[in-house]
Amino acid sequence: MLLGNIEELKQTQVQCINIEDNSLLLIYQSDQFYLLDNLCPHKGAALCEGQLKDEVIECPWHKAQFDIKTGSGLSPLAGKGVKSWPLIIKDGQLLVELT
Ligand code: FES
Repeated sequence: MLLGNIEELKQTQVQCINIEDNSLLLIYQSDQFYLLDNLCPHKGAALCEGQLKDEVIECPWHKAQFDIKTGSGLSPLAGKGVKSWPLIIKDGQLLVELT
């Protein structure tokens, strides 16, 4: 599934992406893209509205922290974390296979 043109997506470091029924969080950092589920497992805040600090995204509501590379929870409110999706780069486009 197409997320968009890489050069355009690189313009925003943290962004919300909605594809079909999936609410996703796309992060661009250090020349890498990371795609995670967007809903915080604590109370459902949108992580794409949170703060990015190095390799950690922090929930905007109660500060749960997640590893941007794996989606793993790094603080108690984050629980087991959120799903992380592998990305594919092809012909200048960023793609994901949602399963
Ligand atoms: S909703 Fe994310 S920490 Fe509470």
